[in-house]
Amino acid sequence: MTTQHPQASGHGHHHPDQEHGHAHGHDDESGMAEILELDALLLRDHLQEIFDWTAGHSRAPRTIVDLGAGTGTGTLGLARTFPQADVVAVDQSEFMLDRLRNNVEQHQLANRVSTVQADLDVAWPELADIDLVWAASSMHHMKDPARVFGEIRASLSPEGVLVVVEMDALPRYLPSDLGIGAPGLEERCHQLVATAGWNSHPDWQVDLEAAGFTVSGRQGFDYSRDDDPQLVARTAYTFLSRMRTGLAEELSPEDLETLDQLLDLDGRHGLNARTDLSMRGSRTVWAARPR
Ligand SMILES: C[S@@+](CC[C@H](N)C(=O)[O-])C[C@H]1O[C@@H](n2cnc3c(N)ncnc32)[C@H](O)[C@@H]1O
Repeated sequence: MTTQHPQASGHGHHHPDQEHGHAHGHDDESGMAEILELDALLLRDHLQEIFDWTAGHSRAPRTIVDLGAGTGTGTLGLARTFPQADVVAVDQSEFMLDRLRNNVEQHQLANRVSTVQADLDVAWPELADIDLVWAASSMHHMKDPARVFGEIRASLSPEGVLVVVEMDALPRYLPSDLGIGAPGLEERCHQLVATAGWNSHPDWQVDLEAAGFTVSGRQGFDYSRDDDPQLVARTAYTFLSRMRTGLAEELSPEDLETLDQLLDLDGRHGLNARTDLSMRGSRTVWAARPR
């Protein structure tokens, strides 16, 4: 695997619409990385559906770029789905790229994956003639998505395709009535996080067309997983702990107490003791070609 550093690191850069709450700095990235990796495990089939859909919208890509690659969920899935392709993982965060390189080594895909550290808000890295650009849960982070879409368009090969993926809402884990506290805890958490601007993005179709793309496909993908209770509980724990930290000032004392009971894994109301957890949610995916 090769690593390039086309520009200075974007460390310390934060957007107002931070993912999943208000935590900052290295802890924030570490918590985010853990969530991304657990999601990749639990939602493997759901994500593979999206990779397969992508295969139906692209023509045997040989050069793939994963923009805002995080811990490498897309990079790994695309490398497996397109065994003839080389994948370049781009992220502003060296922390994420380190985790990604580890994951790639573990899956023995290092011969086809390289990494580029670049802050796409600052400048487009030296990447051209790309057959498939994949941007999953990353375009909503960009300060100027129109400019980035323009750069992507200019970097695609004539037959190239851009696939943009976004989560429609935060994943759900809990039933509405937990039997403790006031019903609707998860809804209240999600409302507070939405008010803080989490993950807000428009229907990218308008921006894609304005940047000179034709949208060739748009598809929603739902998931619901309750068949691996231990993994669901672990993922819910990681996610809700982050929520607990991020919303400590906003939630009522009663809701914080309920969250604490859920997060007390040895307690009788802890997540490990529950049999009614499931992870559910949906993503929207857009495929676009240069006009
Ligand atoms: C929510 S994560 C998504 C990771 C991965 N695409 C996935 O679906 O699992 C968003 C990623 O985008 C990266 N990112 C955010 N803004 C960026 C920018 N301006 N330039 C490059 N990467 C950026 C973050 O560092 C983070 O790794």
